[in-house]
Amino acid sequence: MPWSITQRKEWQFFSVLPKADRALAAAWWAALILRGILPAIFAIAMGVLVAAVQQGGGLAGPLAAMAATFVLLQVLPPIHTAIGSNLGDRTAAWLYDRLTDACVTPPGVAHLEDPELTSDLTAARDFDLGMMGPPLSISMDFIASGMTEMIGGVASAIILVGFAWWAPIVLAGAWLATHWLLRESAVWWDRNTPEVRAAQRDADYAFRLAVDPPASKELRLFGLAGWTLERFIARRTTLHRLQYEATRLRERSVIWSLLIVVVANVAVFWALASAASSGALSMGALVVYAQCAVGVSLIAFGGFSWALDGAAAPVAAVLRLQSAMAPKGALPLGTRSPAGLPAREIRFRNVRFAYPGPGEATPVLDGFDLTIPAGSSLAIVGQNGAGKTTLAKLLCRLYDPQSGVIEADGADLRELELTAWRHRISAVFQDFIRFELPLRDNVAPSGAPDSTIREALASAGASSLAELDTVLSRAYADGTDLSGGQWQRVALARALCGVKLGAGVVLLDEPTAQLDVRGEAEIFERILRETSHCTTILISHRFSTVRLADRICVLEHGKVIELGSHDELMALRGRYRTMFDLQAQRFGEATDEEGVTHDVLA
Ligand SMILES: Nc1ncnc2c1ncn2[C@@H]1O[C@H](COP(=O)(O)OP(=O)(O)OP(=O)(O)O)[C@@H](O)[C@H]1O
Ligand SMILES: [Mg+2]
Repeated sequence: MPWSITQRKEWQFFSVLPKADRALAAAWWAALILRGILPAIFAIAMGVLVAAVQQGGGLAGPLAAMAATFVLLQVLPPIHTAIGSNLGDRTAAWLYDRLTDACVTPPGVAHLEDPELTSDLTAARDFDLGMMGPPLSISMDFIASGMTEMIGGVASAIILVGFAWWAPIVLAGAWLATHWLLRESAVWWDRNTPEVRAAQRDADYAFRLAVDPPASKELRLFGLAGWTLERFIARRTTLHRLQYEATRLRERSVIWSLLIVVVANVAVFWALASAASSGALSMGALVVYAQCAVGVSLIAFGGFSWALDGAAAPVAAVLRLQSAMAPKGALPLGTRSPAGLPAREIRFRNVRFAYPGPGEATPVLDGFDLTIPAGSSLAIVGQNGAGKTTLAKLLCRLYDPQSGVIEADGADLRELELTAWRHRISAVFQDFIRFELPLRDNVAPSGAPDSTIREALASAGASSLAELDTVLSRAYADGTDLSGGQWQRVALARALCGVKLGAGVVLLDEPTAQLDVRGEAEIFERILRETSHCTTILISHRFSTVRLADRICVLEHGKVIELGSHDELMALRGRYRTMFDLQAQRFGEATDEEGVTHDVLA
């Protein structure tokens, strides 16, 4: 349990409201308080009216006061609802802004992969979609109702002090006791358990599988539609079960609550009746106090309802992520300019790297040493999971090694100005992004002259794919979608455009995996020509492209086990030779059947 009130999620929820919109939050609180005290004002106005009738005084004043209170009682709730719904929307938008900021701003990426943060991320990402509770615009109304009643109860109790100091204490105490006795039925306290979080995460994933177009093929082909649906329903049912179990009414608590409340009310109303019959209490005062004695019961029904609990949980999650993500995704920021780097070499020196999290004990790279002369091309080969992509990510400084250094011309990458260093790098990642944007922005996300974009597209063999203005997504009216290989050409064009804009290091992680054989050879040669002044790192399982690099390194068990040119490594008759021969043999057979020439690889 949080030890300080400011750490409580309810507190955090209310402190976020004025940050989202100060004026609306003030209006919401003002309406809330006014709505809360109106029933008490109404009771007083009625008492004054009864007294006036009894004493034959003027009725116009008391009647007008009653009418005004009555009208306000009718008019305020819908206005309050409108303010609350507006404020709820703004608060949701504010939180989503903070969440987006927390995800995007850290220079590293470890915060997005940390399993400890994924549950919060799930809760924070979808909180306003109505998946885990009503959206904030609606919750605000429930929260307001609960709190209005609470304030109404307190206002009645204060007036009741005029009758007897002990009466409000007894009544309010009794009604408050119901909160304590029935607390388990009202609020789901232990929402943050591993079981709840796991069910939430699984339900979320199944839901995404069901509604995401890219998943639709496999869902159908592998007959997973039913599985997805069942998993979603099962996890949602689990969530509901956990909630019902956590919040069910307990018999003993109900009996105790009833007993306490009945005794307290009998005591107060007995006292009121005897005071009235002995003449100590006027008729008008009796009307006021009796109504207030009833009004104190509002304390029982009001308060911080389940809606506040549901609305405050994602707020707390967003705020937690905001503070947790920044350090996890942080990287030391250097100030040295990387202009012109590397002019001599890139060097990995005794690098050890393990992904943060559960696998931290088993490093992907360990004792990794490699020098890449500037202006040369290096191919990296190795089995799946050998750490090739990891090397590319380290070079981009998406992570830093745990020990050892990566240097550009002798300068530790950590000393370099990060954004400028990243500008020095252009890349086709293995899982490159397909922007739902016009072709132009896919090639040059941060802008470039059209002529440069067209040149890059031509070099990648993608000149005739689409107009520069065509959005590469079917989700848009005049958009289009591309095949896997066509997308890869766009990614290549993006990397080449980066080179034309000044990048000096080119990372190509399986850049031609989806290209047809003829396209691959032709395009790869063109790329090597265009990037001949760059330091190019090619990661590929295709030896037909690998052999074109100046040098090739074989990566195994986190280390370089062979390094040299294609001819040198073939002569070495080691791991490279084995892999090459194996592929040449397989390709040879396959191409024979199709009647294609034998020497694709030779
Ligand atoms: N984000 C990540 N978090 C934790 N572990 C990871 C992450 N990415 C990769 N790994 C692990 O690191 C190891 C190396 O992965 P990497 O992607 O570098 O392999 P690779 O050589 O590129 O393989 P492939 O040929 O399949 O592309 C693998 O064991 C993988 O499970
Ligand atoms: Mg890889």
